[in-house]
Amino acid sequence: MTRAIRCRVNGRAVAGEAEPRTSLADFLREGLDLTGTHVGCEHGVCGACTVLLDGEPIRSCLMLAVQVDGRELTTIEGLAPAEGLHPLQAAFQDKHGLQCGFCTPGIILTAYAYLQEHPAPSRTEIREMLAGSLCRCTGYHFIVDAIEAAALELKGDPTP
Ligand code: FES
Ligand code: FES
Repeated sequence: MTRAIRCRVNGRAVAGEAEPRTSLADFLREGLDLTGTHVGCEHGVCGACTVLLDGEPIRSCLMLAVQVDGRELTTIEGLAPAEGLHPLQAAFQDKHGLQCGFCTPGIILTAYAYLQEHPAPSRTEIREMLAGSLCRCTGYHFIVDAIEAAALELKGDPTP
């Protein structure tokens, strides 16, 4: 038996259906075809499935789809403006902050929410913020570079 779910995803009203046991991650990927949300551990450990729920980063593998009824979601597909990339996305591209890209959507959405509250983080603070996001490829150095560059860009000061 499925339940109706009405919510807003990336600024659009969405009406879908899911079984009560369906995770939010599976609902986004399979129900709404938003496959930018990646699923790694399915245990809340890796951060790959991170999306924003009412502006706060959450692990979509740990939430049920029915729990987002009436709420607002942002996935990586909703971050970019109509033309081009969000500054975080552009910085990851410019600074080589990704390799396979599996962790990237979750890290970018985590960083997006963090920079709203901490617009000028130190490299140490960026590394602490990344503690809940696992990347098996990059060694994190270029990810930190990218987030640092994006923070400067978002403040209107691209000069390190
Ligand atoms: S897939 Fe959700 S935290 Fe790893
Ligand atoms: S870029 Fe491959 S897991 Fe992070």
